[in-house]
Amino acid sequence: MSDALTLKNDLTAKIEAANDLKSLDDVRVTALGKKGAITDLMKSLGRLEGEERKIKGQELNALKDEIANFIKAREAKLKKEELDRRLATETLDVTLPPLPKKIGHVHPITQTMEELQTIFADMGFSVAEGPDIEDDWHNFTALNFPPGHPAREMQDTFFLNSKASADKNTQYLLRTHTSSVQIREMEKHGAPIKIICMGRVYRSDYDMTHTPMFHQVEGLYIDKNVTMGHLKGCLIDFLSAYFEIEDLPIRLRPSFFPFVEPGAEVDIGCSRKNGELKIARADNPLEQEWLEVLGCGMVHPNVLKNCGIDPTEYQGFAFGTGIDRLAMLKYGIPDLRSMFESDSRWLEHYGFNLFETLAKK
Ligand code: PHE
Repeated sequence: MSDALTLKNDLTAKIEAANDLKSLDDVRVTALGKKGAITDLMKSLGRLEGEERKIKGQELNALKDEIANFIKAREAKLKKEELDRRLATETLDVTLPPLPKKIGHVHPITQTMEELQTIFADMGFSVAEGPDIEDDWHNFTALNFPPGHPAREMQDTFFLNSKASADKNTQYLLRTHTSSVQIREMEKHGAPIKIICMGRVYRSDYDMTHTPMFHQVEGLYIDKNVTMGHLKGCLIDFLSAYFEIEDLPIRLRPSFFPFVEPGAEVDIGCSRKNGELKIARADNPLEQEWLEVLGCGMVHPNVLKNCGIDPTEYQGFAFGTGIDRLAMLKYGIPDLRSMFESDSRWLEHYGFNLFETLAKK
């Protein structure tokens, strides 16, 4: 057998045995590389003469082409095999939307507002809004605490210079509660009405649990035959849905607000073991501890009259609470003031991913 034929058989076997691109390339180098076997044989042609050199030369060139083509074919086959293997193991769902980059966070107050809106929308409440700068009538007088009423003391706020205002006889102020929106809505739409109002409110306070600006949510439901039973049922549903505790204990404690009669404060069950506050039902009812979260009551007949609603025909309930406080309780935020410091590290810790928030809805 000629050298060329031996070499051909040997290389062909090696090419067939190469099971990946790397070993195939190694075979290519041993055959056709600068110091490869075929290259070596080519070099040896120089030692031959005339006709023999011509014949040998043609034979070697043919071998070279044959081996090169064979390597090419093997390479294509290996590449196809590799692609098939990848396609079989990698699954890619091309219908998935691209994952958003995590930039920024939803503030816990915004998150809480969204949750409240969802809960009350389920109960048939719509959302009403009103101005932050209020007049005395909507914030106090219409709500049954006229000038000089001692209950105004509890809601000291920021008064605007009335000399600078359009109507010099009107005292403008930063609203102390969102109850003013309830007055505006009753004046505009009358009864029946079923709304929640959410937004910023202001009082001149500052400590761990008070800031000069905070957020409230208030509910108002006026219709014929609305009773305190409806109020309690609504609050039980609201608080257990918000805190995600099905049998959350709730109690009403008589209290005074000028715009309701009777009025009550609402407590939810909690435990304070080892100084740690946990919202829950106690195993032993005698050991149940309580935490005040809300004010509520049946809307005072004077308030209805002030809004042009006949209290002998309509009645209803109202309730109000701090959104910031609800957020602090649910998400374990210790200091109210930190909510408004715009520290991005704080927001990264307590904030919510926008797309997770949307996905939850
Ligand atoms: N507006 C009251 C407050 O800010 C809360 C409240 C609303 C109480 C409705 C009773 C009924 O303190």
